[in-house]
Amino acid sequence: PAERETTRERIRQLLAERDAVLIAHYYVDGDIQDLALETGGCVSDSLEMARFGRDHTARTLIVAGVRFMGETAKILSPDKTVLMPDLDATCSLDLGCPPDEFAAFCDAHPDRKVVVYANTSAAVKARADWMVTSSCALAIVRHLKEQGHKILWAPDRHLGRYIQEETGADMLLWNGACIVHDEFKGVELELLRKEHPNAQVLVHPESPRSVVEQADVVGSTSQLLKAVVEGKAPEYIVATDNGILHRMRQLAPGKTLIEAPTAGSGATCKSCAHCPWMAMNALQGVLACLEGGTGEITVPEPVRSQALGCIDRMLDFVA
Ligand code: 13P
Ligand code: SF4
Repeated sequence: PAERETTRERIRQLLAERDAVLIAHYYVDGDIQDLALETGGCVSDSLEMARFGRDHTARTLIVAGVRFMGETAKILSPDKTVLMPDLDATCSLDLGCPPDEFAAFCDAHPDRKVVVYANTSAAVKARADWMVTSSCALAIVRHLKEQGHKILWAPDRHLGRYIQEETGADMLLWNGACIVHDEFKGVELELLRKEHPNAQVLVHPESPRSVVEQADVVGSTSQLLKAVVEGKAPEYIVATDNGILHRMRQLAPGKTLIEAPTAGSGATCKSCAHCPWMAMNALQGVLACLEGGTGEITVPEPVRSQALGCIDRMLDFVA
């Protein structure tokens, strides 16, 4: 603990000296989330991380999350230095959507608007008409449907199917999944709900249909957090990465939070729902960014400018 406090103190000093700001996702280590908030940075969902980084005046953005979040920050702020604690922190959705295969998919369906989830590489975004995050995907697809567009959607099949069912839009879906949310189990959730009949069920839409169907609230990480803070119920079953429980506990201290069951839950695994790539973000990695400028994100031209279009379209829509 003493060593961790020394590291935290050094990070605080260096953030100020280097004109840097720490931007963290809700799924990373609680210590990093706390430091981000203490030092004037932010802890938020992927949409707010993008906006915060773009609007902040600091010359250096330290993005504690996964690679697509650092890339989005760099695409929006090419003149800032964007550093990440671990450049190997990726995402199964990004890995499952290689740019060349995605380009072939788009080429085969030129009559469709290309809508991609934020959890993709810059090269995939460069091919897209719109980028969306889980907090605005529904509204954007509804808008495109109203304008008479057919949609090509990638990469998360669960989120795509959820939006398709909610909006009735004509959507062709890529077959990707998040390895964390894909593990939540509908039957086990039903049993857990019987044990906690007064609990509200909060579900991130990257989860399978059998889980989403049981939700009282479906939403992005920020929307689920808001549901706990503002909710009247004393108990909540949470179906998203358990990294978010840190902030939920801070903002809603009197409420009982229960992790939704995953395939491996039970005696062998008490905290299965945790992204292995988000877990790569450590205080030491943040310190290395500040001391040695490690983990720099670059997005070469013309990919950067091509990817900017779909991100700006989303940010203008939600503004
Ligand atoms: P949010 O947009 O809710 O932050 O979810 C993105 C995500 O999957 C982070 O891993
Ligand atoms: Fe990707 Fe899932 Fe990890 Fe989010 S939690 S970064 S969607 S693998």
